[in-house]
Amino acid sequence: MNDNSQHWLITGASGLLGHPLVTALRAGGHAVTAIRSTHPVGISGVREIALDITHGAAVTRVIADSRPDVIVHAAGLTNVDECERDPDGARKLHVDATRYVADEGARVGAKLVYISTDHLWDGTQAMVDEGVPTYPINAYAHTKLEGETIALASSGTALSIRTNFFGPGRPWRKSLSDWILERLGEGAALNMFTDAYFTPIALDHLIRLLIDCVRLDCAGLLNLAGGERLSKYDFAMALATAAGFSGASIRRASVASFGFAAPRPRDMSLDTSRAAAILGHPLPSVAESIATLFDDTSKVRNAVPIR
Ligand SMILES: NC(=O)c1ccc[n+]([C@@H]2O[C@H](COP(=O)([O-])OP(=O)(O)OC[C@H]3O[C@@H](n4cnc5c(N)ncnc54)[C@H](OP(=O)(O)O)[C@@H]3O)[C@@H](O)[C@H]2O)c1
Repeated sequence: MNDNSQHWLITGASGLLGHPLVTALRAGGHAVTAIRSTHPVGISGVREIALDITHGAAVTRVIADSRPDVIVHAAGLTNVDECERDPDGARKLHVDATRYVADEGARVGAKLVYISTDHLWDGTQAMVDEGVPTYPINAYAHTKLEGETIALASSGTALSIRTNFFGPGRPWRKSLSDWILERLGEGAALNMFTDAYFTPIALDHLIRLLIDCVRLDCAGLLNLAGGERLSKYDFAMALATAAGFSGASIRRASVASFGFAAPRPRDMSLDTSRAAAILGHPLPSVAESIATLFDDTSKVRNAVPIR
């Protein structure tokens, strides 16, 4: 450990964001307590605890015992349609569990970072900033928003990060970029939406910037996403080009043509001006984020094999 090392507690530590975050924190010399549910974390030097965070007493005990300096609450049910089919389950995890984490975190004086989402509006506005009133249209968004409100109310130092990320996933949890690259590699057709927009950021960048934000003691709402808005179709094409594929198997599709259980916002793009002002630089472009997937020096990529 170095002089600036802190004790971080991460929920959702076996997930797409949580696992490489734990890896990066360990590499940076921090002490880490990793909370997961069904999947292992398995990182050397990390204290790993299997815990269902919807059980309040257990959450309280673990946080009270470990007394972390920083908590990143990244656990979530990211399957939007599953949340729609099981709104009570989504509520237990996104609302009740967030209350347990936030309350005990505040009691021990930990800085809380809540991982929120770009899914909080109806998708009729592009590039929403932190001041645009939310307008959730499905159970995932409603419950994530309630969790965010609880997290921010728990302490003046709490930070809520609204984002959308991609990068190398876990064997049981593939990211959008994993799925696209896999389909391209197999020569299989992909239907990608030309009418769904977002501002994605690579995990590599997001994790570095999240750690910077904690170092800067940033609080409140923060859009921490990519600096560039594009459609899911254009994202797949950009990824194909970077990976050396022609993109011929990528087909244009419309969100309206898919029978999702939950309504989807068409435009989820986030304005990242506040983050750029705090961090002192613009947020990464799509090309900069995609480049991390093919960069041999990427800590995240090297630490997290796709399969
Ligand atoms: N993926 C995105 O682009 C995106 C976009 C916007 C916001 N977010 C938010 O970012 C956060 C992280 O997303 P992600 O994609 O990294 O998630 P993920 O890969 O789906 O992982 C979810 C994590 O939550 C844990 N978990 C689920 N239920 C739990 C329970 N009852 N008790 C304890 N842990 C539980 C899982 O544990 P096990 O694996 O061990 O079961 C896993 O570690 C989520 O809160 C999500 O809402 C994600």
